[in-house]
Amino acid sequence: MPFSAPAERNGAPILAVLRSLLPANARVLEIASGTGQHAQRFAAACPAWDWQPSDFNPKALASVDARCAGLANVRSCLVLDVLAPRWPVAEPVHDAVCCANMLHISPWATCAGLMQGARRCLKPGGLLLVYGPFHVDGEPLAPGNVAFDADLRQRDSAWGLRRLAEVDAQASQAGLGLLRRFDMPANNLLLAWQRPA
Ligand SMILES: C[S@@+](CC[C@H](N)C(=O)[O-])C[C@H]1O[C@@H](n2cnc3c(N)ncnc32)[C@H](O)[C@@H]1O
Repeated sequence: MPFSAPAERNGAPILAVLRSLLPANARVLEIASGTGQHAQRFAAACPAWDWQPSDFNPKALASVDARCAGLANVRSCLVLDVLAPRWPVAEPVHDAVCCANMLHISPWATCAGLMQGARRCLKPGGLLLVYGPFHVDGEPLAPGNVAFDADLRQRDSAWGLRRLAEVDAQASQAGLGLLRRFDMPANNLLLAWQRPA
């Protein structure tokens, strides 16, 4: 089964933030579930959460479903491309849309897709939670993130760390307001945008 060492390391800190923000019975749509390690960890820790994993890569579905097979609160993983004009989920019923480590490993257009789609799926007052490394204006990029950014751009010229100001501009255009920034281990951020109540 595919395994991600970063997902294993960052899962506990992300879960702590999610727990502090979300209601006990939150309905959550996860974008870019990847290996399914986050879905498994988060849904197991919070059995009253209703967790919908998804990924645009159909090959990811089997491992996500296998990892989460014993968890009654995890739905079958969906094929969901954030660039699609409509997502295959109910609107607007979600308390949260969660997306970790996608914006820098996909073309820039996925940012607008994520923001617009989250706005459609979220309940009024619902949260879009985005985790990963970002360029922040006025803050030096950590050496590890400089090297990571260069490596990403060399692998694919459409990839690379995003400027938080530009990501936030896309969120604003979609009607989402930046609520909170959490500084996470290893120079990552977890950002919470809110659909106005
Ligand atoms: C580095 S992995 C992150 C996986 C997981 N969220 C984590 O943090 O370990 C990036 C994921 O983004 C997904 N992805 C890339 N482009 C996408 C798109 N247009 N729509 C949805 N997911 C996408 C990939 O399939 C991959 O699973």
